[in-house]
Amino acid sequence: MSDQSYFSEVIQYINKLQADYYKTPLDQLNELGLLGRIKLYDWHLEFIGLGLILTIILLFQIGAYLNQSKVSKILKSLTPLLDENFHQVGISDEKLFIKDSIQSFTSYATGRINISNLKINFKLAPRQNLIQYLLESIIGIFFPDWIEIPSDSIEIIIKPLNKIQPFIFAIVNKEGMNKFRDDNYFLSLTKISETIFSNNYVFMSESNELNENLINKDLIKILSDNSTDKILKYLAITDLPSNKPIKESDFTNDNNQLILKLNLLTDSKSLSIINSLVDQLIKLSDQLIKFQLKLDQQKKINNVRSNELIKLQKIIQDLKDEELKEQKLEIEKQIKKNSKLSPDELDKLEKRQKEKKERRQRNKLTKREVKVEVYEISKDLVKADEDEDAEFDKVDVTWTVDTALDPFVVTLVVPLGITTKVEPLDVKVEAPETGDEAGDPDEDGATVEVT
Ligand SMILES: *[C@@H]1O[C@H](CO)[C@@H](O)[C@H](O)[C@H]1NC(C)=O
Ligand SMILES: *[C@@H]1O[C@H](CO)[C@@H](O)[C@H](O)[C@H]1NC(C)=O
Repeated sequence: MSDQSYFSEVIQYINKLQADYYKTPLDQLNELGLLGRIKLYDWHLEFIGLGLILTIILLFQIGAYLNQSKVSKILKSLTPLLDENFHQVGISDEKLFIKDSIQSFTSYATGRINISNLKINFKLAPRQNLIQYLLESIIGIFFPDWIEIPSDSIEIIIKPLNKIQPFIFAIVNKEGMNKFRDDNYFLSLTKISETIFSNNYVFMSESNELNENLINKDLIKILSDNSTDKILKYLAITDLPSNKPIKESDFTNDNNQLILKLNLLTDSKSLSIINSLVDQLIKLSDQLIKFQLKLDQQKKINNVRSNELIKLQKIIQDLKDEELKEQKLEIEKQIKKNSKLSPDELDKLEKRQKEKKERRQRNKLTKREVKVEVYEISKDLVKADEDEDAEFDKVDVTWTVDTALDPFVVTLVVPLGITTKVEPLDVKVEAPETGDEAGDPDEDGATVEVT
């Protein structure tokens, strides 16, 4: 069956539903009354529509609820560990997390020796939007480079309280390691090396000395557990950002952080692993305070930063140069365009520019002083006991009119505190400007605006 005949069949079916109603003559419909007409009308389509809308709303709510319940579950499982370590757990006393959107949540802890703060960022799949969820899942399977299969992840970031030495060190899951390296500028600066304790992970670090010293028995035990492989994406310590620096302060500021990037799974085994990993991250931040690289190693690492900074400065300078060049080119293009004009056109252009100039000059000259008589002085605003001179019913004032403006504005000086009405123009006294000596009406003025 062709699309078109299918479509017309649907239309026919819909019309048949309403056939009884539309066949009934108008006067008969009128006789039926409202209730009768409601009974006669076929409501099938409306109910189907309403049902669809309700289903969409319900699915949206269920998806949103599922996302939030995952966040709650993780935070509930982490709370004992965080409470033990931090004075404040959660955004405030009442709120454990902030819902930034249906797919994005944030939590926070602070108040512990050696740590400035700990932040947890949740990124969840678009469960509220079933169509997007399904589409991304399917496209993601076939074109993993285009679209990521929707998944849930958490990022736990510790900002140390004290200044620590700059370096980059990471333990990275082999699955997805290339993507992590592409996504994170700081990882792209490191050297990859195999770990001795597991086939599932590699080191990405700036020095073997880091690999040897920043790993302890407890961490190795957690990493050796096969289930950790499904959770840990990477654990990293870095002084440089994830996004490629675009300003010099990205290198000079104190940006050290410890990052734990995890898949968000909420079965009890996974929750226990997540807890152990966060515990290790907190302990690592203590360890870092005492940690010191050998001098030559640290010098090498510092050099990498100086070189990156020089590269960035060069890029910034190149961009500036390019912009200047473009501006110059634009001007040259304009000149060329003008020179391409025929003598006739050039003449016209010159004439137009001359006219413009003259018009501007004329405008300047049209400002002139006009003498007007102001009538109907309202005395309401005049403080009579202070100002006897204000008791007049006719004043001469001089004002400047800029006829080039439309509607034009005049500024006129009248004794303080007087509302005026000028025929044929309506004049309104705006906020009177008080002079140096309030109460001296001869010197004080008011701004008058013609509307
Ligand atoms: C982990 O997996 C490896 C191979 O995949 C297996 O040999 C080992 O027994 C597993 N270990 C545990 C503790 O399940
Ligand atoms: C803070 O770091 C120091 C130095 O590593 C360590 O001795 C101390 O135990 C740490 N504090 C806490 C509360 O762990």
